[in-house]
Amino acid sequence: MRIGILGTGDVGQALGRGFIVLGHEVKMGSRSAGNDKAVGWAKEAGGKASAGTFAEAASHGELVVLATLGSANESALKAAGPQTLRGKVVIDATNPLDFSGGAPQLAVGHTDSGGERVQRLLPGARVVKAFNTVGNAHMFRPRFPGGPPDMFICGNDDDAKKQVAAILSDFGWGTADLGPIESSRYLEPMCMAWVVYGARAGTWNHAFKLLRK
Ligand SMILES: NC(=O)c1ccc[n+]([C@@H]2O[C@H](COP(=O)([O-])OP(=O)(O)OC[C@H]3O[C@@H](n4cnc5c(N)ncnc54)[C@H](OP(=O)(O)O)[C@@H]3O)[C@@H](O)[C@H]2O)c1
Repeated sequence: MRIGILGTGDVGQALGRGFIVLGHEVKMGSRSAGNDKAVGWAKEAGGKASAGTFAEAASHGELVVLATLGSANESALKAAGPQTLRGKVVIDATNPLDFSGGAPQLAVGHTDSGGERVQRLLPGARVVKAFNTVGNAHMFRPRFPGGPPDMFICGNDDDAKKQVAAILSDFGWGTADLGPIESSRYLEPMCMAWVVYGARAGTWNHAFKLLRK
């Protein structure tokens, strides 16, 4: 499948590498065509990887991943082109974090969320929130003594969530579906729980798992 990744940071690179290992064709997009990180990533990732602008990555992808700084989502999505993303599955891996006070805090919550904002910015796209509740080092093929962790996801389109659950399975994750995109109000605070635990414990090697019986 052709995958567009909007974002050149650690998340875009980790997810991009995962998709490449699984045999997909990945274009990583950024604000400028010759972005060093995207070009370097593509060079390292091999023949099925390429770099371009946000618009080029959005147009390349049958499925698109949003992995930009949360406060920059709107400007990145406008550059990507909401029309281009109509009908496509868009995985929103971002968190609406505010770093103005030093330590990260959620910039929105309770009555709205970053995931809902992304869906409103892309009314024709099928947005699925995923990959926002774990560090990039564990996004592809996580290895934990307790077995595969679960990725909590949400979104309005059931078929899109099935596609994302299949991708998660290929990436080495179980899936826990929390319903419509409004559940981003609960998934984004889970990112903070992951970060706060890591800061207190002094380790970034943890992931969530839902125990069921
Ligand atoms: N780091 C993690 O382990 C982790 C884990 C889970 C979720 N997340 C979330 O995933 C997202 C990506 O995180 P990250 O650490 O990989 O990268 P990041 O540093 O948060 O974001 C980098 C990307 O944001 C773009 N960007 C920055 N300012 C912009 C602006 N004003 N307009 C348009 N685009 C702009 C950059 O564009 P250029 O390429 O043009 O520079 C770059 O592609 C964030 O929302 C983060 O909260 C991170």
